[in-house]
Amino acid sequence: MELLKKRTKMCAEYNASDIGSKVTVLGFIAKYRNLGNLIFADVRDRTGIVQVSFEQVSCGDAVFADAEKLRNEYVVAVSGVVRSRGEKNINKNLPSGEVEIAADALEILSEADVPPFVISEQAAVGEVTRLKYRYLDLRRGSLQDNIRMRSRLCHLVHSYMDKQGFLDIDTPCLGRSTPEGARDYLVPSRVHHGEFYALPQSPQIYKQLLMIAGFDRYYQIAKCFRDEDLRANRQPEFTQIDMEMSYADCEDVMGVAEGLIREVFDKLIGVKLPEKLRRMPYREAMDRFGSDKPDTRFDMELKDVSDVAATCGFSVFENAIAAGNKVKCINAKGLAAKYTRKEIDKLTEFVKDYGAKGLAWVSLKAEGTTSSFAKFLQEGALDAFLRAADGKEGDILFFVADKYAVCSASLGALRLKIAKDFGLIPEGSYDFLWVTEFPLLEYSEEEGRYVAIHHPFTAAMDEDLPLLDTDPLAVRSKAYDLVINGEEAGGGSIRIHTPQMQSKIFGLLGFSEQDIAERFGFFVEAFRYGAPPHGGLAFGLDRLVMLLTGAESIKDVIAFPKMQNACCLMSDAPSVVEPKQLTDLAIKVDLGEK
Ligand code: AMO
Ligand code: AMP
Repeated sequence: MELLKKRTKMCAEYNASDIGSKVTVLGFIAKYRNLGNLIFADVRDRTGIVQVSFEQVSCGDAVFADAEKLRNEYVVAVSGVVRSRGEKNINKNLPSGEVEIAADALEILSEADVPPFVISEQAAVGEVTRLKYRYLDLRRGSLQDNIRMRSRLCHLVHSYMDKQGFLDIDTPCLGRSTPEGARDYLVPSRVHHGEFYALPQSPQIYKQLLMIAGFDRYYQIAKCFRDEDLRANRQPEFTQIDMEMSYADCEDVMGVAEGLIREVFDKLIGVKLPEKLRRMPYREAMDRFGSDKPDTRFDMELKDVSDVAATCGFSVFENAIAAGNKVKCINAKGLAAKYTRKEIDKLTEFVKDYGAKGLAWVSLKAEGTTSSFAKFLQEGALDAFLRAADGKEGDILFFVADKYAVCSASLGALRLKIAKDFGLIPEGSYDFLWVTEFPLLEYSEEEGRYVAIHHPFTAAMDEDLPLLDTDPLAVRSKAYDLVINGEEAGGGSIRIHTPQMQSKIFGLLGFSEQDIAERFGFFVEAFRYGAPPHGGLAFGLDRLVMLLTGAESIKDVIAFPKMQNACCLMSDAPSVVEPKQLTDLAIKVDLGEK
């Protein structure tokens, strides 16, 4: 093991300036070719690879005999002299591609079984196998790059927040249920049978208590746990860059958060943010894009054509308007020729997932106009629709008649689908947008009560306070989300800081005095002992890394992620436990029908 301690530098750092130097590299064998009396091996570490050659005549029989034993993924230490590969053999795709190391010593530090798949970006390997052998898949360059970006981001967050005077304070994972609105992960108590801790959905309650404790500015890179259905950008266990500050209004919090994002994008990927980020009230985002996290890198905005629809002659539209609903449309400019009847039928199925009952369309192909509903229209109505939606030759228009929320959700999603299908989103572009003035409450049919859109501690906008008594759904909140390329990168709010207002909001949410006392008693009590006005925000760290690296899936930016069904294929978690453990916890498992 003599060579082990002597690494000269990392593999990808070798270049022509090293020619003639005596060096040692450490790493895995990435590739191996035996040409008889000459063996080539690529040695890989976390920076990349460097080529090593073993020539029997120059390295000697003993070293050569060891080199013959090499196989993929063996861990080695190799010494030798750096030399040019020669003009013909230069590999321009590799940072170290001009040179190779002519080996004169080799130590095999670890042998390796044949791995279940070749460690390569190109290898056609299913996700299940990759995740089962995650530690092998993580040897791939692109995953290593993502994890490195994550590390650099964390480092930058710490230095930026420290400079801004924020204290890094960690908060418990074993705590009480928090109110972010997802299902909790519960941890049974051994000491208190029948009682459970809840893993934090976010450090929300603790960070507000830290403001009451006088810490003034807090931040933390915090693990959060939410038992919800997973998607491409959602994990049950994820990480937030969480912050809270006292004596702050919306501008103060947004200023700190914006400063962080500015520095992150500039320093990590060289993207300069505009002087001032755009802002858009929630209502405008819904009207124009059908989404509270609009992707504003392309147009195709939703148009409200209810005026024309009201008396157009097509009963589906007229009835919708008569029932107080809306007719909205999008114009897929220049795409008429791309859509056959069959393709349109697929889109109709697509919008049904968002609650739409149908999808009416007008196709303005050069050879003539076709439409699913033009035949029902009164004279002049088609022209009026085209004028309202800027319909020109070559365009295809899609209409949904329904409740405002269904029009928004279905056409908002269709807009994104069409843009993705036809590459309308400029690659490598970034768009940053603050969405503000969210409604404070929405009505949940399921629960038969108002629920908080952000969380129950969010303050209402001052000018809307009188509406709390008369029209609660019209009240806007001091909440803000930072949307990057149509992704909710982060969100937060100014909080309620008086017990009176907090009681009022809990009341509106339908919590009884007893509910409040049981669930948030300690929290509400804290506000009676002096609470500075405060507010904060949390960024999804994993989502930021996705944006910085261009990763398609959140799994690609987390070292050990969970599958769609929330299990870890590598460790097989969750798993059955020893009966003794259950006895200790006074837990009986009843799988019923299962
Ligand atoms: P919120 O619930 O909006 O706010 O979460 C903040 C950010 O966390 C990210 N995020 C997720 N990322 C991956 N997987 C998930 N399951 C997941 N859920 C959320 C998103 C989101 O914008 N306590 C408040 C913040 C505050 O008010 O200060 C909170 O947690 O990027
Ligand atoms: P029908 O008369 O039912 O064949 O419908 C004519 C067209 O209107 C078809 O393209 C349907 O998909 C569409 N359609 C039906 N209901 C709606 C609706 N609520 N919104 C938009 N289009 C609809």
